[in-house]
Amino acid sequence: MPQTVLTRGVPTRAVVTGAARGIGRAVAARLVAEGWQVVVSDLDAAELETAAAVTGAHPVPADVATDAGVAGLLSAASEHLGQVDAFFGNAGIALMGGLDTPDADWARILEVNVMAHVRAARRLVPEWVERGGGRFVVTASAAGLLTMLQDLPYSVTKHAAVALVEWINATYRHHGIVAQAVCPQGVQTRILEQSGPLAGLLSHDRALTAEQVADSVWAGLQTDVALILPHPEVHDYYVKRATDPDGWLAGMNHLQQKLEQHIEAQPERQRAGASGASTRHTHVIDTEEHK
Ligand SMILES: NC(=O)c1ccc[n+]([C@@H]2O[C@H](COP(=O)([O-])OP(=O)(O)OC[C@H]3O[C@@H](n4cnc5c(N)ncnc54)[C@H](O)[C@@H]3O)[C@@H](O)[C@H]2O)c1
Repeated sequence: MPQTVLTRGVPTRAVVTGAARGIGRAVAARLVAEGWQVVVSDLDAAELETAAAVTGAHPVPADVATDAGVAGLLSAASEHLGQVDAFFGNAGIALMGGLDTPDADWARILEVNVMAHVRAARRLVPEWVERGGGRFVVTASAAGLLTMLQDLPYSVTKHAAVALVEWINATYRHHGIVAQAVCPQGVQTRILEQSGPLAGLLSHDRALTAEQVADSVWAGLQTDVALILPHPEVHDYYVKRATDPDGWLAGMNHLQQKLEQHIEAQPERQRAGASGASTRHTHVIDTEEHK
């Protein structure tokens, strides 16, 4: 296996998207603390300034939902860093939609959760092949290995993000390219804060801090593993899904039924919230259904 460009102990130049807050900001802070040169990027330019000041990274505001946004980000990052050795495609959105999700919403989430990564990879990977190495890290989700009840577009796009990582590894590992998918369950970020009345029920599995996820990412960077699992139990759920798909799906459907009963039992006011963001972390639950 060729040596990747990320020789241990040598400062590396990286871009982290979705880094104004949450997991992206924590990963950027960890990389800077480890001596890397980092460009942080986000749609939210004001919050990005704060994140840059706190982490010591260089801010480049960008909307990665467009090809021009990704191109502009990579161009500004290359100018600032000299070259990009590692890319962390972390920006992501959730819609809490089912089969009735409109096409416009599908288009938006596909751009952010999938095409942003494809567009970065198609610019960076050929460069990295020329140079003999590079690292492409995507913050997918446990939903990309399992599923997320109540959020079809999130489940589909996160599976696609994992598929991209697998494909890059399968195609370019012998050129020194390492691709990794970070697949956490619940993480204490804005997303979980917005989870509403069911959060307690649904998150009795451990909700990690963003810094704990950054620790896992850093450990993953040392090993080159394709799947970085901040919640180790996700490995067992993934094995269950692969070895007994029908049993696993029966368990997930049982869980869906319990959720529906729980939502039905909520007072009207809470139910409005429960039908949306509050069920976002259904894949978080550590229940018999997973096992
Ligand atoms: N929090 C969790 O429980 C959890 C679990 C699994 C996976 N994830 C994934 O982790 C990643 C980071 O999410 P987070 O939990 O830190 O949430 P967050 O909302 O705190 O951060 C996401 C950031 O992405 C930015 N962003 C969104 N669309 C963008 C775009 N088009 N261009 C540039 N930036 C954009 C947002 O402005 C925000 O700062 C996401 O991909 C999310 O799906 C989160």
